[in-house]
Amino acid sequence: MPGIVIVGAQWGDEGKGKAVDALGGRVDYCVRYSGGNNAGHTVVVGDETFTMHLLPSGILNPGCTCVIGNGVVIDLDVLAAELDALRARGVDVAHPLISAAAHIIAPYHLVLDKVTERFAGNQRIGTTGRGIGPAYSDKINRMGIRVQDLLDADALAAKVEAALDAKNQLLAKVYNRAAIRADVVTEALLAHAERLRPYIVDAARVLNDALDQGKVVLLEGAQAHHLDIDFGTYPYVTSSNPTAGGACTGTGAGPTRIDRVVGIVKAYTTRVGEGPLPTELTDADGERLRAQGGEYGATTGRPRRCGWFDALPVAQAAMVGGFTDVFLTKLDVLTGWAEIPVCVAYDVDGRRVDRWPMTEREVEAATPVYERLPGWTQDISGARRFDELPVNCRAYVHRVEQLIGARISGIGVGPGRDQSVIINPLL
Ligand code: IMP
Repeated sequence: MPGIVIVGAQWGDEGKGKAVDALGGRVDYCVRYSGGNNAGHTVVVGDETFTMHLLPSGILNPGCTCVIGNGVVIDLDVLAAELDALRARGVDVAHPLISAAAHIIAPYHLVLDKVTERFAGNQRIGTTGRGIGPAYSDKINRMGIRVQDLLDADALAAKVEAALDAKNQLLAKVYNRAAIRADVVTEALLAHAERLRPYIVDAARVLNDALDQGKVVLLEGAQAHHLDIDFGTYPYVTSSNPTAGGACTGTGAGPTRIDRVVGIVKAYTTRVGEGPLPTELTDADGERLRAQGGEYGATTGRPRRCGWFDALPVAQAAMVGGFTDVFLTKLDVLTGWAEIPVCVAYDVDGRRVDRWPMTEREVEAATPVYERLPGWTQDISGARRFDELPVNCRAYVHRVEQLIGARISGIGVGPGRDQSVIINPLL
């Protein structure tokens, strides 16, 4: 029985939350494997819109056990607030299981994220300011605070003190900021300990036991391929591995336990934050895509940069992720254009490039080579079968499929839970 990975194929905000939610009650375990509350997964149920930043999207499905894997960095205040907010809206949420090995975003990580971005000026990444990068840096530097440290107050206090030793020097001497008191931080973290104690588990064991019992385990990626620390448009990336490999290292489910890798691909391109975006449109078409697609960051509210579909980054993501399936989202947003350009290659210094380039410089210099496909005007939001889509719309889907080299198994035609065309059911 399946272990399924869901991974964003572009720069995030592809509609992963909806795709996860669309699998509905058939998923037994829904697991976040990377990132933190830099994510914003929006799910529309009936008239209600829910945005989860840290909790797995499956939390809205009763009967689904949600797990926060070791690859995630957790802001405990955000976790508590998100659970409380869902309960206040009457959602029946069972508590999530949290890996004892997951790292904690401490208050000083938020401060460092903001001051380093400000200090970087033109070199800034455009982070979400949620402390993600500094928390992962501490993890790699072996001075992180882990969820299991909440179970041992003395060990926690010692670790916080050690972590702040060097940071306070940096804050005071480089950034001209007040030092942060270790006892205040320790106390703030310990305030969550009692509530979270029953949630803390060896998540790798829980998930492997579940897979042994034939349960359906969905490993939900946040961010996306081109924000990956290794494969993304470095340095304009997040600090974790949202790609499919990260689903293994971020949960403890070994590679042989993964049966399907589903790439989530938006029918056009968006990005928030800095960094290259070859098909970016700064004209009226870009404005129209943003307006029709509601392209504003779910976490920061920033307007997203928008552009036409670019096949090169998606084909690269499909290759690295080993996509078995693709879910093409927000196709309805493209309704109403007479012609829809699709980027099939780049011009780099007068040379045609058909694949995602190897170097940062080439990506920065890339000018899109477009193929223009005929558009459609019919409302597609009510379509539930592929043959109900207009002929030009079907041709667009087929061309995208051909360009990215992975089969399209589902298509999103509206924000609602049921607004999908399923071609090959995942379960
Ligand atoms: P950080 O993850 O906050 O460090 O931000 C690093 C980069 O990743 C910035 O360009 C962010 O805008 C981007 N980013 C992080 N999380 C998301 C996401 O969930 N969707 C889209 N972009 C994201």
